[in-house]
Amino acid sequence: MKIAITGANGFVGSTLLSSLQAKNFKPVALVRRPFYAQGLAVREIDYSNSKQLSEALSDLDLVIHNAGMTKSLNHSEMYAANIGLTQKIVSAINHIEHPIRLIYMSSQAASGPSTSVLPRKESDPSEPISIYGKSKALAEKVIHEQCRQPYNIVRACSIYGPQDRDFLQLFKLCKRGLSMQIGRQERLMNMIHVSQLADFIHHLIINNDVNKETFFASDNEAYTQAQVVQYIAKAMATQNRQIIVPQALAHGAFALSDMWGRIIRRPQVMNLEKYKEITAEAWLIDSSKARELLDWNPAPRMPELIEETYQWYISNGWL
Ligand SMILES: NC(=O)c1ccc[n+]([C@@H]2O[C@H](COP(=O)([O-])OP(=O)(O)OC[C@H]3O[C@@H](n4cnc5c(N)ncnc54)[C@H](OP(=O)(O)O)[C@@H]3O)[C@@H](O)[C@H]2O)c1
Repeated sequence: MKIAITGANGFVGSTLLSSLQAKNFKPVALVRRPFYAQGLAVREIDYSNSKQLSEALSDLDLVIHNAGMTKSLNHSEMYAANIGLTQKIVSAINHIEHPIRLIYMSSQAASGPSTSVLPRKESDPSEPISIYGKSKALAEKVIHEQCRQPYNIVRACSIYGPQDRDFLQLFKLCKRGLSMQIGRQERLMNMIHVSQLADFIHHLIINNDVNKETFFASDNEAYTQAQVVQYIAKAMATQNRQIIVPQALAHGAFALSDMWGRIIRRPQVMNLEKYKEITAEAWLIDSSKARELLDWNPAPRMPELIEETYQWYISNGWL
């Protein structure tokens, strides 16, 4: 089976590449700038050139459309990256005469937050609260309405692991012996390690009976931020002092960081869109569909995977 991955040089894409390689597939990396991955075919694409895109996809059996933008300084840039690019991929694969399956890497953000007691199901109506979530929900809509080839949508929850720059901030804070929580309310969320996500995608690839299904992907456990911090502190062998930041103060800090991002023209991890997501009541998903249809039942391994992530940050000089 010939598989290609868009955004193959990013955090998730590069892990998908190596994981598929380890499972004896020969994945093709689709990227928009020079990229080297040992022993792999790399296709550099100008996505605005539809002829070049069609040619790059023409000999494939499966495209994992993983490229996407998770933060940006303006809506239009994010919509172009997440909706516009998906539209181009769908249009290109619709013109291919043989069956070519599409797996779209969406996000839990497309569905929206949950309450603390009721995890969201895939069948719930989409209620995204951020521009990012809206762009991912609209990209899903493009696929449902326009894709004439077999497809699946994977809504991953928060992903952590080697090469991730978002959770790195939490590790950096912990390294200083601190952790912060916005407001007194403990919020529950789902998470998945990037290697578990790659495994999830493998479960999906080898299943041919789930055409057009959307799946939430998590490690099937619910966590509070305090729990995650505890695992990080344990990996670092540090004691952490938790600071409860009042919501109004946190909003101010996110607003300042957002403004700084606009000044230096680089979106920051702490931005006002992220603030909306972080302060939602909970981010819980019901993983029963993946368990039943994909036999997705990972062992709970967060402490060990956090330790592994920490070691990666250290040995690669990120911490
Ligand atoms: N990280 C998470 O917690 C999380 C959670 C749920 C879902 N996801 C989804 O997972 C996917 C990968 O995210 P990530 O965390 O790996 O992000 P990442 O490290 O920023 O990688 C994003 C990749 O997408 C490519 N890309 C971005 N905009 C593009 C555009 N306009 N045209 C072509 N390529 C473009 C980037 O290419 P360049 O390097 O050339 O910019 C890069 O290869 C995204 O679709 C994201 O929505 C992520």
